[in-house]
Amino acid sequence: SPPLRLGIAGLGTVGAGVVRIVRQKAELIAARAGRPVEITAVSARNRDKDRGVSLEGYDWEDNPVTLARRADVDVLVELMGGSDGPAKAATEAAIAAGKDVVTANKAMLAHHGQALAEAAEAAGRVIRFEAAVAGGIPIIKSLTEGLAANEITRVMGVMNGTCNYILTRMQSAGLPYETVFQEADKLGYLEADPQLDVGGIDAGHKLSLLSSIAFGTQVDFDAVQLEGIGKIMIEDIEQAADLGYRIKLLGVAQLTGRGLEQRMSPCLVPATSPLGQLEGGTNMVVVEGDDVGQIVLRGAGAGEGPTASAVMGDVMDIARGLRISTFGQPASTLKTAQPASGNTP
Ligand code: NDP
Ligand code: HSE
Repeated sequence: SPPLRLGIAGLGTVGAGVVRIVRQKAELIAARAGRPVEITAVSARNRDKDRGVSLEGYDWEDNPVTLARRADVDVLVELMGGSDGPAKAATEAAIAAGKDVVTANKAMLAHHGQALAEAAEAAGRVIRFEAAVAGGIPIIKSLTEGLAANEITRVMGVMNGTCNYILTRMQSAGLPYETVFQEADKLGYLEADPQLDVGGIDAGHKLSLLSSIAFGTQVDFDAVQLEGIGKIMIEDIEQAADLGYRIKLLGVAQLTGRGLEQRMSPCLVPATSPLGQLEGGTNMVVVEGDDVGQIVLRGAGAGEGPTASAVMGDVMDIARGLRISTFGQPASTLKTAQPASGNTP
């Protein structure tokens, strides 16, 4: 079979990770995907930056939109970030030019997912975004494939590695916020605007995407009741620990009699519970389905390897010819969510 040809837009933590995996694991990927996966061209802002991986053999494009339109690119792998701007422009250009898209960009999909999914479907293309939610945990595949026949009653969990890292390192190592924040940065966990992390917005983006898939509703990020970890002091963390609890930025999405409830806020959980024992950048997602019961997925929620692993899973699905709608069912069949009112975080 002919190779699947990638154009990679964005060569930061995740993009460099994808290049590394394509280079290191060419044989394994070809064997499992049934055809080789190659990188044709790449794009980033600074051509001269050392990315820790070789870019030899790839064409360079200054403009990600030009990259997306290249005739020798089958799939745009969008790893720049940002809800609008070049990420959205390149995604739209790729779809219009008849290419599939793999992205890790939860901000873009939380704001424009419906329109992008409709455009992709109209063009017979797919947008895949496993890496956008909970890093290396295959939660999108679980919901859209393995659990597809279930009525989902609830999705909940810890979905931001940065916040979990900050909360746990401040508690277990007794380190100040600034030190722990810098550690998270070095590990590649932070969004380009870290306020998205600590403000709970990034986790809210993820919850809104999971809600859409779980409940068959259009993404409704504006209806997520959000509170981040910005107001949590070390004293709060210590007091909670003294009482046998941990503070977690916890998301819950469920259909109630009043409508769809989506809540992301700091919560107290027992220190000895599976959630209470989540350390560092680890995420946990709990899904409840009518036939399957409860499923718990746990793993690295951020960072180079785990996120690039999820991107490559999507790329290999496309190489295999697997074509699943962006939110697990045709975008035109997603219902308008009725937000639950009157909840307090
Ligand atoms: P980085 O900031 O490390 O990398 C972003 C890359 O995009 C850089 O290479 C940058 O170029 C490039 N870029 C930015 N703007 C432009 C532009 N206008 N034109 C061309 N290239 C541009 O981000 P990450 O790798 O951490 O994240 C990428 C995406 O993955 C984001 O959507 C993020 O939310 C998502 N994500 C990240 C995870 C993580 O753990 N880091 C986990 C899950 C999802 P240059 O290097 O030259 O500045
Ligand atoms: N900034 C995000 C986090 C990256 O810390 O979880 C993974 O989506």
